[in-house]
Amino acid sequence: MSQNPLRDPIAALFPTASDRHRVEQWLNGELQRALLRIQSGPVTPTLDMAAFRAELEAFDFDKPQPLDGLLRWTTERLEHGIVQMTNPRYFGLFNPSPSFPAQCADRITSLFNPQLASSASSPMPVELERQVIRAVARRAGLGNEASGHFATGGSEANYTALLCALTAAHPGFAADGVRVFAGPVKFYTSRDCHIAWLKIAHQAGVGRAALRLVGTDGRGRMDTQALKQAIAEDRAQGAVPLMVVATAGTTGAGMIDPLSACADISQQEGLWYHIDAAWGGAALASNRLRPLLTGIERADSLTIDAHKWFATTMGCALFITRRGALLSEAFHASTSFMPSSVSDVDPYLNSVQWSRRFLGLRLFLALAAAGWEGLGAHVERSVDVIERVRELLVCTGWTVANESALAVLDVVPPAELGNVRSLVRRVVASGRAWVAPTTFEGRDVVRICATNGETTLEDVNALVAALNERV
Ligand SMILES: Cc1ncc(COP(=O)(O)O)c(C=O)c1O
Repeated sequence: MSQNPLRDPIAALFPTASDRHRVEQWLNGELQRALLRIQSGPVTPTLDMAAFRAELEAFDFDKPQPLDGLLRWTTERLEHGIVQMTNPRYFGLFNPSPSFPAQCADRITSLFNPQLASSASSPMPVELERQVIRAVARRAGLGNEASGHFATGGSEANYTALLCALTAAHPGFAADGVRVFAGPVKFYTSRDCHIAWLKIAHQAGVGRAALRLVGTDGRGRMDTQALKQAIAEDRAQGAVPLMVVATAGTTGAGMIDPLSACADISQQEGLWYHIDAAWGGAALASNRLRPLLTGIERADSLTIDAHKWFATTMGCALFITRRGALLSEAFHASTSFMPSSVSDVDPYLNSVQWSRRFLGLRLFLALAAAGWEGLGAHVERSVDVIERVRELLVCTGWTVANESALAVLDVVPPAELGNVRSLVRRVVASGRAWVAPTTFEGRDVVRICATNGETTLEDVNALVAALNERV
């Protein structure tokens, strides 16, 4: 009998079923215990980074270690080495505490590891994602014909919008790039947009100067007169206007640009109309808040980050367009090694990515488990949390700077609490809560956003007490 020429699988990478089971049992328990500690512990990192760097330096990859110890080390260091999004006193940037269904989706996905580039490799996941995209598109009023895909984040989805707008604007763009245009191309957002648009302009090859930052109306929303004027000026100077981007839920203040007026202008000027609803798009789930987004149904394309207010794990956004044919035009490719080549279905033929993870399952499971009603209630709950923070702060002498109906509050402290930046530094350093400093309409403000679906009234009181503590 000939000897097996293959060595055994590498046990450190592919342990036996019983070893795997033992480690998984331990890890599950450990993660649950860590979460409880995180929820009642400091929001801010406490890890000594100099010591941590030394620890990393000392890792010797020529001397493998048992996985159990490495997993314990990883969770312990993470427990002290990040701003804790799962802490209910994180009132921070739009990063959520992830919903449990979304976490389960990641767990399942990491076991099967489906390759979503092609519908032949992953027929079930590709169809499931298409269904989620259609459901959100219908909710936005984009109609049954709208299509799109999941992306890693709002930046990728917004980049996709710019490529669609360029492709739509000139039939020669795909082959010859921006030189086909009669002048430098321009696109328009408000100056309160997410500033990743500058990187997007850079990476798309149109140059950062292609982005016109239009002024706001004194209340953090795009000034539509200024928008019209900017387009007219650019045309007069021989530039080529391409796209208007309205923001539904600005990063700094949760403001919604005038979506219908921006749609009118885009239509009159023959421009692509994109709505960056990375955060605020989640208001679609709520019947109470949905009217705030009136006009969203007129967008040519839409960005919604599921990893913001829809509370999936990080790296999950939706790009939706009513002009799906443009995706196939912008991202088509042809090769013999792929198992399928269905131009309007295969994700690798309709999006920036090639190999791709099963991201859509996170939102599918959340939607299927909670329904629109449950997701809507989650979004409304955040608005109610912020309403309560607002009441308490106004009672103690703070001034509200923004008039957002969503879950971001920008506030100015009373003079005796000192300036915004040092106040925020104090609160964050205390670990009792996490808020951000920013500027809104030229004023320094404390930005407070409800991102955690489990924040309680006690957490709100703790935040307000931390903000009001004098030096
Ligand atoms: C309005 C808006 N657009 C785009 C982005 C960028 O999204 P991402 O960080 O998912 O790439 C953000 C992030 O906060 C945002 O608030």
